[in-house]
Amino acid sequence: MKVLRIFFPILVLHVAAMIYAQDDQSGFISIDCGIPQGSHYTDNSTGINYVSDYGFIDAGVTQDIQAIQNNNLRVLNTIRSFPENKRNCYTLRPQNGKNNRYLIRAIFYYDESRGEPPQFDLFIGADYWATVTQMYHELIHLASSDYIHVCLVNTDQGVPFITALELRLLNITMYEEYQSPSLILQARYSLATNEMIRYKDDKFDRIWYYYKVNKSVHTSDTVSLKSFTEEQVPLKVMSTAMLPIDNNSILQLNYTGTVKDYFDLIVYLHFAEVEMLQSNQKREFNIYINHVWTGRFSPSTNITTVKAYTYSNSSFFELIRLVRTSNSTLPPILNAVEVYKLKQFQQNQTDDQDAAAILSTKSTYGLTKLNWQGDPCVPQENVWVGLNCNYDASRAARIVSLNLSSRGLIGEIATALANLTMIESLDLSYNKLTGNVPNFLAQLNNLRILNLVGNNFTRPLPAELLEKSKKGSLSLSTDEEGIDEEKSSCLKGSCRNNNNKIVVILAPIIGGIVVLSIIVLIVIQMKRKALIKKEELFIPSKQRFTYSEVVSITNNFQNEIGRGGFGSVFRGSVGNNQVAVKMLSESSSQGYKEFQTEVKLLIKIHHTNITSLVGYCDDRNHKGIIYEFMANGNLGDHLFDGSATVLSWERRLQIGCDAAEGLAYLHHGCRPPIVHRDVKPSNILLNEGFHAKLADFGLSRAFATEDATHITSIKVAGTLGYLDPEYHATTRLTEKSDVYSFGVLLLELITSRRVISEGVNIVQWVKSQHEVGNVETIIDSRLDGRFDIKTAETVVETAIACVSPKSIKRPTMNDVVMDLKHCLRAERTRQSESMSLNFETMSDLIPR
Ligand SMILES: *[C@@H]1O[C@H](CO)[C@@H](O)[C@H](O)[C@H]1NC(C)=O
Ligand SMILES: *[C@@H]1O[C@H](CO)[C@@H](O)[C@H](O)[C@H]1NC(C)=O
Ligand SMILES: *[C@@H]1O[C@H](CO)[C@@H](O)[C@H](O)[C@H]1NC(C)=O
Ligand SMILES: *[C@@H]1O[C@H](CO)[C@@H](O)[C@H](O)[C@H]1NC(C)=O
Ligand SMILES: *[C@@H]1O[C@H](CO)[C@@H](O)[C@H](O)[C@H]1NC(C)=O
Repeated sequence: MKVLRIFFPILVLHVAAMIYAQDDQSGFISIDCGIPQGSHYTDNSTGINYVSDYGFIDAGVTQDIQAIQNNNLRVLNTIRSFPENKRNCYTLRPQNGKNNRYLIRAIFYYDESRGEPPQFDLFIGADYWATVTQMYHELIHLASSDYIHVCLVNTDQGVPFITALELRLLNITMYEEYQSPSLILQARYSLATNEMIRYKDDKFDRIWYYYKVNKSVHTSDTVSLKSFTEEQVPLKVMSTAMLPIDNNSILQLNYTGTVKDYFDLIVYLHFAEVEMLQSNQKREFNIYINHVWTGRFSPSTNITTVKAYTYSNSSFFELIRLVRTSNSTLPPILNAVEVYKLKQFQQNQTDDQDAAAILSTKSTYGLTKLNWQGDPCVPQENVWVGLNCNYDASRAARIVSLNLSSRGLIGEIATALANLTMIESLDLSYNKLTGNVPNFLAQLNNLRILNLVGNNFTRPLPAELLEKSKKGSLSLSTDEEGIDEEKSSCLKGSCRNNNNKIVVILAPIIGGIVVLSIIVLIVIQMKRKALIKKEELFIPSKQRFTYSEVVSITNNFQNEIGRGGFGSVFRGSVGNNQVAVKMLSESSSQGYKEFQTEVKLLIKIHHTNITSLVGYCDDRNHKGIIYEFMANGNLGDHLFDGSATVLSWERRLQIGCDAAEGLAYLHHGCRPPIVHRDVKPSNILLNEGFHAKLADFGLSRAFATEDATHITSIKVAGTLGYLDPEYHATTRLTEKSDVYSFGVLLLELITSRRVISEGVNIVQWVKSQHEVGNVETIIDSRLDGRFDIKTAETVVETAIACVSPKSIKRPTMNDVVMDLKHCLRAERTRQSESMSLNFETMSDLIPR
């Protein structure tokens, strides 16, 4: 948590900037944790009104850490820490209630002079939000309940603490498209501004970090910027924009960080033209998000936000790439960017009315010692002491019993209890309750047990209540003798409602019979289905096309773009998307098996570096597979002598990385792992941006077990020259066979030599050159030295390791990906065109 140390500089704001902004904090809750009860103040630098955290939480101890001696940053001076309880929660009840979006920010300022920072988890109610590793965590949350519980959970790695908690109503449309997923902030930058921007420039108090760039443009005339989105992104943020270094044609932002698992991202790019363009000038560029073309764009003075989904599963990737079009006279610009992780929260919570009633009861009696924290019923293992709830997956949890026996309650029965409409059992015995027993208790229709013994209520009790008790629908315990008699007779089983007992006994029996019959029925159904399925190859899906559909997709097979042993490939379109359709020739029987293998695999696996399946056709006489169209054909077309263009070194590294990532995904990301078995240049396809995807899974095999060294004895298959010699000799197939083939491919990629050329195998040739230290001669001479010799050496060494005769000496594809990415990054740094967004240490970008 090194980042915490530099919290100081970024909070110092330009006070002058806020003079024009209005001061409306009606949708804000700003809590300074640890300041004395009842205190509040307005922060000098932000103008934000903070209040004490008393009333939002009743656990923990406050600490004055004297973080900053300056009044400016008062919020950092105190914290609340939680040496006790595993779970401690702040309960927020925003005025606008549920079904609104809120920005929730939890701030953790830790002074490293106090030693290693603790690590703990942050939850929203019962939903995991983050492990605290940064100075703040931020969430855009669509609240499905009136209460929002922000919980700190001790994970035995130090005492949890919190510095401040902020909530802002976010009543703008920008983040609204996604009904339920919450957005967890990864990065938010105002590019090329000189200072951090938040409230009051941003009326929603989003924090826009500034991002130091080498080249920028700005306008002093923010008035000319206009848009309906004006409120959504502050004009100050939009008034500056980043340019590519050296007026280059490519503006690129990379993602760097550690990625523990795959997650979906949403990226917001905010654009506005800030230069005065002459009539002969034009700024236009293509937008690629994580390699996917997202559109062509030309910024205007209207602020425009481009939104894109992508995902992250590796610690380095090209997140944003803006490439000037050939018509454009000016380089691309980017004013601001936001990146969020998409997260589906379950938001299991107690019914709002129940929660309000029990919270009100809690405050009426001052029940602070019970450790009643967070949501009353959820999570189930943390249900409040004395409560029982009814959990039903389709509805909010309801409180069904409340036991406050011997809790020292003083005063009258809390009127809020009237709102616990599902309550069945209420025990208020042995307290110091006084006054009238309210009539509403008789109106709680579900109440079966009421214990009022040991209090000092005014007599008589409400007639309606006594009546219910007499009728036997309520087991009422009071200090009055007569009633006690009634109660004891009830305990003996002579109550009038003993009809219920029959139901109680019969219900399980009848229920059991019903369940049994259902199970029997299901089993029969399943058997029948299994029988039917045997004949059908695939589960019918929307990816299945009929032959007549294929005819129309390919416009009657007019445009043939390839031909092989299996049959032919045609170009076509499905909707607006270009596709390639591979039709199996009717004769090939081996082909049909491969067809099955391929469709079955591609239906299941999805990865940017694996060609995606649009659909398939499995009619009686016509078998075909429909893929996304790859504009640049296969790698073989671009690599060897006679190809029209020479691929640049960076592009080769990129293609190597892409292919390696696709294989790494098959080997390490799929369960069970998949071996491709036919890695070669003609099976690597390139899209319009020359990004590579693996194709042709006809020979692929999935291991039956997760054991990577599993031995399978299937017929040796593959392409000569790429075939792992060890596999050939032993027929033991492991994913290391792919590593060998990939090594050969990598050698072809960097040398542009064919696998066998002039009778010499490429592996032998490279090894012999490498032994005498001739790395330059190994690399494609057409590159004319336009490559970095260091990365070239690394790539050659990686490739040679991949083609080790012994499979155990070969690296895994994950290792290869790491090596190649390292090279690619080095190559890009050399070109110094790109900048990095580091999601985890955003504050690294703040000058010290
Ligand atoms: C902040 O405001 C308080 C109260 O107006 C004032 O006493 C203090 O000097 C101010 N601090 C700074 C750094 O301006
Ligand atoms: C770019 O220029 C070409 C040729 O002048 C033209 O056909 C094309 O429509 C232009 N593209 C855009 C987006 O203006
Ligand atoms: C929410 O409730 C569902 C259904 O009761 C349960 O399966 C799930 O685990 C709960 N989620 C959380 C985070 O408690
Ligand atoms: C309430 O709690 C007390 C003490 O824990 C227990 O004796 C009593 O039986 C409980 N009441 C009900 C209705 O369960
Ligand atoms: C009971 O709930 C209603 C509706 O939620 C609310 O208006 C009312 O104030 C509540 N009554 C008490 C006594 O809390």
